[in-house]
Amino acid sequence: MRDAQPSAIFLKDYSVPAFLIDATELRFELGEEATTVHSCLTLRRNPASDNATAGLTLHGAELELLSLAIDGNTLSESQWSVSEETLCIAEVPDQFELRCSTRIYPQKNTSLEGLYKSSGMFCTQCEAEGFRKITYYLDRPDVMSVFTVEILADANTYPVLLSNGNRTDVETLEDGRTRVVWHDPFPKPAYLFALVAGDLQAVEDTFTTCNGRVVELKIYVEQKDLDKCEHAMLSLKNAMRWDEQVYGREYDLDIFNIVAVDDFNMGAMENKSLNIFNTSCVLAKPETTTDAGFQRVEGVVAHEYFHNWSGNRVTCRDWFQLSLKEGFTVFRDAEFSADMGSPTVKRVEDVSLLRSTQFAEDAGPMAHPVRPDSFIEISNFYTVTIYEKGAEVVRMIHTLLGPELFRKGSDLYFERHDGQAVTCEDFVLAMEAASGMDLSQFRRWYELAGTPELDVSGSYDAEQGRYTLTVKQHCPDTPGQTNKPPLHIPFSVALLGEAGALRLNLQGQEADSETADNTEMVLHVTEAQQQFVFSELPEEPVPSLLRGFSAPVKLHFPYRRDQLIALITRDTDGFCRWDACQQLGILEMTAAMESAKAGADYQLSADFSGALAQLLADDSLDKAMLAMMLVLPSEAYLAEVFKPVDVHAIHHARERLRRQLAEALREPLLQTYERCQDAQPYQANAEQIARRSLKNTSLAYLMLLGEEGIAQKAREQFAESQNMTDRLAALTTLVNNEDSAKAEALMSFYQDWQHEPLVINQWFQVQAASSAPGTLEKVKSLMNHPAFDIRNPNKVRALIATFCVQNAVNFHREDGAGYAFLADQVIALNRSNPQIASRLLQPLSKWRKYPEAAQQKMQAELKRILAEPDLSRDVYEVVSKSVSS
Ligand code: TRP
Ligand code: ZN
Repeated sequence: MRDAQPSAIFLKDYSVPAFLIDATELRFELGEEATTVHSCLTLRRNPASDNATAGLTLHGAELELLSLAIDGNTLSESQWSVSEETLCIAEVPDQFELRCSTRIYPQKNTSLEGLYKSSGMFCTQCEAEGFRKITYYLDRPDVMSVFTVEILADANTYPVLLSNGNRTDVETLEDGRTRVVWHDPFPKPAYLFALVAGDLQAVEDTFTTCNGRVVELKIYVEQKDLDKCEHAMLSLKNAMRWDEQVYGREYDLDIFNIVAVDDFNMGAMENKSLNIFNTSCVLAKPETTTDAGFQRVEGVVAHEYFHNWSGNRVTCRDWFQLSLKEGFTVFRDAEFSADMGSPTVKRVEDVSLLRSTQFAEDAGPMAHPVRPDSFIEISNFYTVTIYEKGAEVVRMIHTLLGPELFRKGSDLYFERHDGQAVTCEDFVLAMEAASGMDLSQFRRWYELAGTPELDVSGSYDAEQGRYTLTVKQHCPDTPGQTNKPPLHIPFSVALLGEAGALRLNLQGQEADSETADNTEMVLHVTEAQQQFVFSELPEEPVPSLLRGFSAPVKLHFPYRRDQLIALITRDTDGFCRWDACQQLGILEMTAAMESAKAGADYQLSADFSGALAQLLADDSLDKAMLAMMLVLPSEAYLAEVFKPVDVHAIHHARERLRRQLAEALREPLLQTYERCQDAQPYQANAEQIARRSLKNTSLAYLMLLGEEGIAQKAREQFAESQNMTDRLAALTTLVNNEDSAKAEALMSFYQDWQHEPLVINQWFQVQAASSAPGTLEKVKSLMNHPAFDIRNPNKVRALIATFCVQNAVNFHREDGAGYAFLADQVIALNRSNPQIASRLLQPLSKWRKYPEAAQQKMQAELKRILAEPDLSRDVYEVVSKSVSS
């Protein structure tokens, strides 16, 4: 909590640390009341610092200082001073040993940052600036140190004591405690430190690296969860092999541990050799976990493992460079997941998230570049922009260079910077050096916030056989940034003829051919306006643009309906086929909303349902792709398309269209539902996942018809299915469509699964997402349910965040009760867990998108939050930026 208004820190003010810490020795005495931490730091002046006489300033927060000594001499109170955030020692030698003891209270730590307790065990979360809640330290990522960690704890209560690196000593003390020592040979910043103490069981396996080293793999969980570790272990081994094969990166220690904890602010954390995971991102078994859950586990396990190179061996110089590790690692895990399953499906999922969530962030008050130039609280910058747009920026480099040169670039990056803390610029420099490509204009992607828009038009000259694409780009203003210069945009294109993609002959300009037969090209869009002329075209082509979503931009092209249908039915790029479906869906939505406004009934166009019917009849199409193509643009994406956003009009028009689609496609959907039934035992493989996805998408449509025969099928599926994917899909559609079966289904589901917190979270989620009136009251009453706990972030996300983010019609109730509810929760969480409070606040920050009446109510709630005393830095930053924008 703060004294004055928190202030921003700036990238331009970066300077190297005045001191370095060569060695860090920590001794933890874990107790039931308090924990004492003794540190011994080997410090010396940084030769690279131009301040050779500086005093020592260490970070610290909420610490009780017990003692302080330099080279064995205890310091008197006049020799140091502490503030809310620092410890300063004015006079220190050039080289010395600093001993410091602090007392902390993990049992009272509800922020889940630093050392805290979760279901009886001690654990840590130090990224980004949590280590300073453990002891005074230079808590910045460019200070890397070799850690030795001693842990003392009661042997019965905490039989498992873990930290980073290798265990070098263990003994049982006479007082009933165990003492262990861990040593990590790799220098690391404090944010990668971890400690775990608890009564845990492990699932064990081994992995033999490409050089024949045997690595011991362990996943530590509570006894009751031992049966849910197999998928994470398999994912880990697959990720280790993949990183060797695709990036030539071998694991570097003899052990790799994962620990699952219930109370965790994010998905997981890549602490060196001791990854700590939210249970939701590591535990999975068919009976309790959906297909999406299995895929999330696979992706997050891989993500954290990949950080060992992209993040740990090469880390960030400062937190402005966060995307250096996160963007690159998300790109790596996305490619991994694509290779493990269906690449097109993975790409469509990622683009959907980017277009709904990241584009919204880029258009709101918290818009920031992939490399921000200032922040108040770094925890607020673990955003979709840093992660997902950052990954798109790395992907564009991959597209511009091609896989071979990209690999040369990543090899050079790791070779140059192993063991260092570096910048995004260093990454780009390595890519340039290895490829010879000039990325100077491309660097703007790191500097500019906002989503660039491409306005493209095409014209065909039949006489000359020429097709001309005119491409204009502009990037909207964002807070603090106006009149942006053009970006270097890789724009992947193909031209479709009646019988397939046509050969591309591009006049003048150079472009890289993607395919051997020269039917796909990456155009370099670098100017505000540019023309690309293709010759020798015997027929007017349908342009297939931004293939594979080759850049994170908004594309506008005035497609005719027949052109969209041509793309849907015969484009060779899966992403573009899906996207054409979305665009046609938007045309339908636009027409439906206009009719509704005029008080008329809109009837779904026959060409749209006809195209979908054709897809349903096409057995060669990937089932998961088909399932995605059947789904109309999400309300979240539509809220990015229509301005201002009338959530109620969007919801009602979309629901009407869904019902009309179900009517038009009744027969093929019924056949599809039956065709996708599968008696095989559950496996989380791409083929089965696709089948279930198509089956349950069909069921969701069919249920809109209100036929008893179909409701019967849903009840059967709910009662009889052996896996959570089918069971939850059935529950969801019953809750949304069958008022008579709803209460009983929810009750029996609760009774079956009350001992599985992760399943109960799904139960909360289904109810919170229901568009039925009265859902806000339902959510409020569920907050008093014994299974709810506001201190557990997964529960907050399942119930409160689901309601505010995925239930637009109820959150945006016209009386403003949804907004007031959210503000109340933010105010409550501001005290206990500022990171969660601040994240939860996001939907209110986007007030500008909504009609005037809603704007005023949303702003009033923001102002109510801002007037609260003791606002955390986290909440203060988001509210103050939202109110003033
Ligand atoms: N570095 C983590 C990742 O892999 C992110 C993370 C985990 C985190 N826990 C956190 C960030 C707590 C901030 C606060 O993406
Ligand atoms: Zn990460």
